[in-house]
Amino acid sequence: MCGIIARIGQGEAADTLLTGLENLEYRGYDSAGIAVQNGSGVKVHKCSGEVSELKSQLDGQPHGNLGIGHTRWSTHGPPTDENAHPHTDTVGDVAVVHNGVIDNYDELKADLQAKGHEFESDTDTEVIPHLITEYLDDVDDTEAAVRQAVDTLEGSYAIAAIVDGEERVYAARKGSPLVLGLDDEEWFLASDVPAFLDHTDEVIYLEDGDLVTLEPNAYWITDLEGQPVDREVDTVDWDPEDAGKGEYDHYMLKEIHNQPTALSNTIEGRVEDGDVAFEDLPAGTFADIETVQFVACGTSYHAAMYGAQLLREAGLRTEVIRASEYESTTGPVDENTLVVAVTQSGETADTLDAVRTATDRGARSLAVTNVVGSTISREADDAVYIRAGPEVGVAATKTYSSQAVTLSLLTQRIAADVPETTPAADRDAMLAELQHLPEYVEQVLESTRAETLAEETLDSDSYFFIGNGLGHSVALEGALKFKEITYEHAEGFASGQLKHGPLALVTEASPIFAVVTGDGDEKTKTNAIEAQSRGAPIVAVGPEEHALVDVADEHLSVPATHPVWAGLLANVQLQLVSYHAAELLDRPIDKPRNLAKSVTVE
Ligand code: F6R
Repeated sequence: MCGIIARIGQGEAADTLLTGLENLEYRGYDSAGIAVQNGSGVKVHKCSGEVSELKSQLDGQPHGNLGIGHTRWSTHGPPTDENAHPHTDTVGDVAVVHNGVIDNYDELKADLQAKGHEFESDTDTEVIPHLITEYLDDVDDTEAAVRQAVDTLEGSYAIAAIVDGEERVYAARKGSPLVLGLDDEEWFLASDVPAFLDHTDEVIYLEDGDLVTLEPNAYWITDLEGQPVDREVDTVDWDPEDAGKGEYDHYMLKEIHNQPTALSNTIEGRVEDGDVAFEDLPAGTFADIETVQFVACGTSYHAAMYGAQLLREAGLRTEVIRASEYESTTGPVDENTLVVAVTQSGETADTLDAVRTATDRGARSLAVTNVVGSTISREADDAVYIRAGPEVGVAATKTYSSQAVTLSLLTQRIAADVPETTPAADRDAMLAELQHLPEYVEQVLESTRAETLAEETLDSDSYFFIGNGLGHSVALEGALKFKEITYEHAEGFASGQLKHGPLALVTEASPIFAVVTGDGDEKTKTNAIEAQSRGAPIVAVGPEEHALVDVADEHLSVPATHPVWAGLLANVQLQLVSYHAAELLDRPIDKPRNLAKSVTVE
């Protein structure tokens, strides 16, 4: 949540900062701002609204070869011009952008006000430039003052700061992501790589406690004691093209259509001679595991349900827990417990917290993530990448598919190590069909009737999604996507639960999208018929030859395949229904209100 960027080098900074912020808007879009440094001091330009609003308010490009920028998801204070970042000290000599939450800002603010500092915003961030100024009076060395300031902060932060008259950018991190981009003639700092991927793929993932100082021709990293720190340079294998919208109107549509490629990358090299292989997880890795706990939030939680069901079927004790509930709901944990954290961004605060709690209790951890270098990939004992490529649309689409496939394979890998488990009777058929999944998704994308269905059901009161077994995960995901981008009331249920309460909401104005996979669909059929008897139109979503074929009013068909993959194909149809419904309702599809892609606060 919140995106920060900084740039220093030859030539003008403003254009790069603004483009970088546009690429980071999936992290928040309540307000935007930049500060650039030129011969006549630090100039701040900021406003509520999106980066496009900021651009339209700029009277030409502000001049300066170094600067910082911010796009906000509000935590402290409403999305006003005053609360937009960058924030400055009283005289405007120090400007700071920040992602995170400063827990002790109240007392720091009171102290600083008592010393004569004047504040203009409701934000927690504003204490930081004032602290830097305050310490500058003591130490007369800005790097030391920044170090002292961040040392005073409690909570989480990734910050970047510039100071009047200095050809430098200062930055530090604790608990919020910050990555350094290294080009020939310029350096960048950002919350995430897409901010500067057009310029460079050489990066350094900064660690908690790092403080970095950038000059036009040099940079150095130190710790909070001022000791030099060495960090490895990595090369990112994301293509800048992947981070753009291409020929599509929205990132979401592009990412839905990118699924055949994403899935091919996810699968590549992971099924060999009928066996599942993960490069860094050799046979025997999971030999001691007795219990597996999946922890995740939102869409990732729905993908985790996939993994949990398959592992449970193999005979291993398995739980799937919403990460935000982990601390209060988990059962006993020990060194034979594997906690699998499923998180696209690798930065979700609730998921990171769950893993830290589990680690403290003695469990082993494994991250399943899309982002190399993310916090989870560095904190967990092991990491597996879903290889979906950058996802910019706030509504997760291709990453759900890649997560579910990765988890399905991972569960086979885990089960192979644990003597008490029984491999699925049709495991070979399942793995063989997986190779065709990308082409099946392609077929769905080419032949879908999702737009027609979205149009036909547009005036409904509510939208219900039901499914059984793996279809339950898809139903929950279908409903989440629908409500997230259309703002219409949508709920997902396990098919059999409909009659235990939700049926009271069912009318002729509440279409039921019934997910069928070819496994356990009888329950879905019975419950769909019960809803249909109350007037609800039934849309069956699944393989053509399915249990609801004579019952459903409408069909969204997918190619016949193994039940494990049929649910994922059904999900592609549901992604498209949500997309087209949102488009017909003229919603801001890539930036749904109140949301941000990476939820780094609890
Ligand atoms: C919904 C969506 C969210 C995320 C959730 C977890 O479309 O994107 O529900 O799935 O915030 O995010 P990650 O996977 O980054 O941990």
